[in-house]
Amino acid sequence: MKVLLLGASGRIGRRIASELLDRGHAVTGVSRGGTVEEIDDPAFTSLAGDATDADALTKLLAGHDAVASALGPSGEESPDALVAMMTAVVEAMRRASVDRLVWTGGAGILRVGPETRLVDSEEFPEEWKPVARAAVEAYDVLEAAEDLRWTYLAPAALIEPGERTGEYRTATGELVADEEGDSRISMEDFAVAFVDELESGEGVHAKLGVGY
Ligand SMILES: NC(=O)c1ccc[n+]([C@@H]2O[C@H](COP(=O)([O-])OP(=O)(O)OC[C@H]3O[C@@H](n4cnc5c(N)ncnc54)[C@H](OP(=O)(O)O)[C@@H]3O)[C@@H](O)[C@H]2O)c1
Repeated sequence: MKVLLLGASGRIGRRIASELLDRGHAVTGVSRGGTVEEIDDPAFTSLAGDATDADALTKLLAGHDAVASALGPSGEESPDALVAMMTAVVEAMRRASVDRLVWTGGAGILRVGPETRLVDSEEFPEEWKPVARAAVEAYDVLEAAEDLRWTYLAPAALIEPGERTGEYRTATGELVADEEGDSRISMEDFAVAFVDELESGEGVHAKLGVGY
């Protein structure tokens, strides 16, 4: 597959790039900075582009089979940038006639009880609420795009750099936690789950939690 990877320079994006390249896919990595450190592979091309600009994305999409996103608003930026990015990506995919998208989402949207999302639970940290609410709004844009074959892949509550074990579990719409209630995943194993989903298409039109 030839994959346009948005947010390729980010912490999760770099690991998704490595996982895609290790499995023989060709990757065009996009970020505003246009460079991705640590990746040196003939099947990898790094380009500068703004993911809130639908015109620019439409041009970048030419010749690609699928879009992978690990976009996130940078520290200084308003979390609402996430909604602008989702809107532009959906629009550009329609214009470029590319219909497969796997999006790295936020755990806040996932259910932790019959009626409760993580973002609405008492234990959800106050400082993460603005970005989690923006992620929910961005998800609403995605959910309305029924013409695209999208999958929203949301990590466990805690996602950190770690080991690639190849092990993970997914749950539709739910936070994945272990028997002690710990919800975690390494960024490397999240990347494994991400590329498995991109390749299989089993979770089209689903939001999936990923954890151990
Ligand atoms: N537990 C959880 O739910 C959880 C935890 C962590 C992350 N996440 C999700 O995963 C996403 C990625 O996380 P991360 O830690 O890997 O983020 P990160 O390291 O901040 O990476 C964000 C990436 O997005 C790119 N980017 C930002 N704005 C852009 C724009 N306008 N145009 C093009 N590229 C842009 C950045 O590159 P430039 O700055 O060079 O443009 C960078 O490559 C987050 O947004 C969040 O949704 C979820």
